[in-house]
Amino acid sequence: MRTAIGLMSGTSMDGIDAAILYSDGRSRVEQGPSLAMPYDDGMKARLRAILGGQGEVAAVADMLTRAHATVVNRLLMINNITIDKINVIGFHGHTIIHQPEVRRTWQIGDGALLAALTGIAVVDDFRTADVAAGGQGAPLASLYHGALAAALPKPLAILNIGGVANVTWIGPDDQMLAFDTGPGNAPIDDWVRQCGRGEMDRDGQLAAAGKVDHDVLAALLANAYFDLVPPKSLDRDDFALPSAPGWSVEDGAATLTAFTAQAVARAGRHLPEAPRQWLVCGGGRHNAALMTVLAEVLDGPVAPVEMVGWRGDFLEAEAFAYLAIRHLDGLPLSLPGTTGVPHPMAGGRLNRHLA
Ligand SMILES: Nc1ncnc2c1ncn2[C@@H]1O[C@H](COP(=O)(O)OP(=O)(O)OP(=O)(O)O)[C@@H](O)[C@H]1O
Ligand SMILES: [Mg+2]
Repeated sequence: MRTAIGLMSGTSMDGIDAAILYSDGRSRVEQGPSLAMPYDDGMKARLRAILGGQGEVAAVADMLTRAHATVVNRLLMINNITIDKINVIGFHGHTIIHQPEVRRTWQIGDGALLAALTGIAVVDDFRTADVAAGGQGAPLASLYHGALAAALPKPLAILNIGGVANVTWIGPDDQMLAFDTGPGNAPIDDWVRQCGRGEMDRDGQLAAAGKVDHDVLAALLANAYFDLVPPKSLDRDDFALPSAPGWSVEDGAATLTAFTAQAVARAGRHLPEAPRQWLVCGGGRHNAALMTVLAEVLDGPVAPVEMVGWRGDFLEAEAFAYLAIRHLDGLPLSLPGTTGVPHPMAGGRLNRHLA
């Protein structure tokens, strides 16, 4: 067993999630303490400004790395853990470009600097090797989902609703299929922010008070992405908001919430067999309106991952802890079924801490 800290800065740009995981990088996984640190408005604006890879990328990458070091040091301090107890950090960084079709994916963050700032070895650059080999480079949490779900009845679907949403389907013989289903929270967040009503549709209250614009919803769902056979993955802003739709803030929230949920339903058509259960993780499961629509449109029961004892806000961070441990053991991080890579693929890069 090793001890790792996983760090995730998701496409929602809401902040950094950190989680300690004890694992053998295979079937044994045990969760340790966790910590979330929200970004302030300045950091969010800086990240938004460099999406796509333009502007002051290096300066923002440096700030982002330092913010991650702060989270690590705080997590350790609060829980009275010394750095010698941690074998490795899994540092995802922040995605500013994801275009697997041109073999390009870019997560900013400096693993060597993080190793120096924390005194702990850091694995970073998780997606490059997969994409270079022709994979989607995403989703990467699937192998961790598989380890967590070892004892659960199959087929099972684990749905992560972050900025983008992705599913891991695990079949009766533990075969896996994983892909991005479509938009997650990002269009809802962007709409609410554009309307000057905060950072998110908290608990889905706006959507619950709105009416779905079925014409626009149909147009959004006509996107060719939904018929593409997986593997497939998305960048944060692949689904642009319709321009000047003339919605009230509530109707927009309701329509975009329905869009995210219907995209998951469309993804269900690509699954080899309907899941006996949909387990939902990521911030979107806090959106009650979204969870209600998901329950209506999906084949099979829907529940937050807490139903089976997992931590829905830290699963992605835990996954990168798990993958960092797998990196140390030379185990694959992705499979043909999870990213479409031609063969099981190792990945990540180790930045040793030089004392
Ligand atoms: N109480 C809530 N009500 C509604 N939405 C919420 C609530 N809490 C969180 N969210 C949504 O969840 C988002 C954050 O989710 P999460 O951190 O899982 O996504 P992420 O950072 O994009 O991660 P990743 O890309 O790794 O999946 C917020 O931007 C918001 O849209
Ligand atoms: Mg997040």
